[in-house]
Amino acid sequence: MIQGGHPLKGTMTISGSKNAALPLMAAALLADGPITITNVPLLNDIFTFNKVISETGTQVTFAREKRELTIDPAQMSSHVAPYELVRKMRASFYMTGALLGAAGHARVSLPGGCAWGPRPVNLHLEGMKALGAEIEMDGGYVIAKAPNGRLPGGSFTMIPSSVGATVNLVLAAVRASGKSVIRNAAMEPDVVNLCDNLNTLGARISGAGTPVLTIDGVDCIKSGTMNNTPDRIETGTFMIAAAMIPGSDVTLTDTLERDLGSFTDTFSKLHAGLEIGESSIRIRSADRIPPVSVETAIYPGFPTDLQAQWATMMTQADGKSTVTDHIYPDRFSYVPELVRLGADIERRDNMVTIRGRSKLKGASVMSTDLRASVSLVMAGLVAEEETEVLRVYHLDRGYEKLEDKLNSVGAVIRRVSD
Ligand code: EPZ
Repeated sequence: MIQGGHPLKGTMTISGSKNAALPLMAAALLADGPITITNVPLLNDIFTFNKVISETGTQVTFAREKRELTIDPAQMSSHVAPYELVRKMRASFYMTGALLGAAGHARVSLPGGCAWGPRPVNLHLEGMKALGAEIEMDGGYVIAKAPNGRLPGGSFTMIPSSVGATVNLVLAAVRASGKSVIRNAAMEPDVVNLCDNLNTLGARISGAGTPVLTIDGVDCIKSGTMNNTPDRIETGTFMIAAAMIPGSDVTLTDTLERDLGSFTDTFSKLHAGLEIGESSIRIRSADRIPPVSVETAIYPGFPTDLQAQWATMMTQADGKSTVTDHIYPDRFSYVPELVRLGADIERRDNMVTIRGRSKLKGASVMSTDLRASVSLVMAGLVAEEETEVLRVYHLDRGYEKLEDKLNSVGAVIRRVSD
């Protein structure tokens, strides 16, 4: 339940990245001893993935107050990721590359789709075949095998560039017997963070952050520590929230502006106050929000994970703008909900046109997926009276203690059980 109209003032701490932590957790299976992962956010997706990893017999310990995960694959006895868990969190599909790389064998349920449409994994499977894996399907499961128990490695060009497929192929290739080359690889900080951490533990990956990854297979990945990186999408989300609520002055700490790619340049067009520190970003809302149109693209382009939040802010702009998603053309389930709050926004194919100057008024609205739900919360922060956001379990998958963080800087949000 959100009371609108309260400016955000104060400091908010950014949590560790969900989308960077999940690959590190899968990579831990490749090590020949315990791996400790730092700065792990307390999110349902992390808890779900802990269950998936534990299914293999691997020991998982989560020191929650320290945000530290310890994963020890020494007791790994099974190479299966079951449907009832994978369907809850599609990044569980990373178990395919991890188990192939660690044990030469994987039986992983195909992930389902999600709220905004099909999420294919063809690139993951074609890529693994290119690395020498034998892939077959059996009752909704992928059975992946390395001939003689170890992948030889190989070359693969992915079209389009895919974050998940890049992660899965890195996991499968790092302990291959030979060399692998992945072209048109994703350049997201999530991928760079995975490669950098693996390299500190003995992997030989070059080209992280560029479209060509070269991986010389090694015999073992050492036990040790992997450092997770701050959540760039949470950072971008709170930057937008601060810019769209009049009278706001927010400092985000424990974050890295360099991971935002071109988002910072786009954000600067808002003429909001922006001060970038070593590990902090201060945002002050301006007295007006100019209309700024965006189109999503792969990193370092505008992230698809921030397009719903941006469109929500543009309902408050003093002019017309458009938001176009080239990554997920159907990721607009939040639009009808914003209309319920009084937004003047309409969708055609993969583009929404936002008229701006909308006076939003509180109403009950429905979350459908992680980023759409946070956009509805942000709309509630500027809407008059009270907004009720339903099905907030979507929020808890990707935003740690969202209402606590926002209330600590002046928002008035309470969680009630329906
Ligand atoms: C990751 O999903 C993120 N999830 C998503 O964030 C994010 O929206 C997405 O990357 C794009 O940045 C995690 O990191 C856990 P993709 P992923 O494979 O890897 C097509 C969130 O909100 N494609 O880069 O699944 C696909 O259809 C989540 O935290 C294929 O065609 O995204 C899409 O159009 C939501 N075949 C494009 O590639 C494949 O085999 C990019 O998808 C794989 C992908």
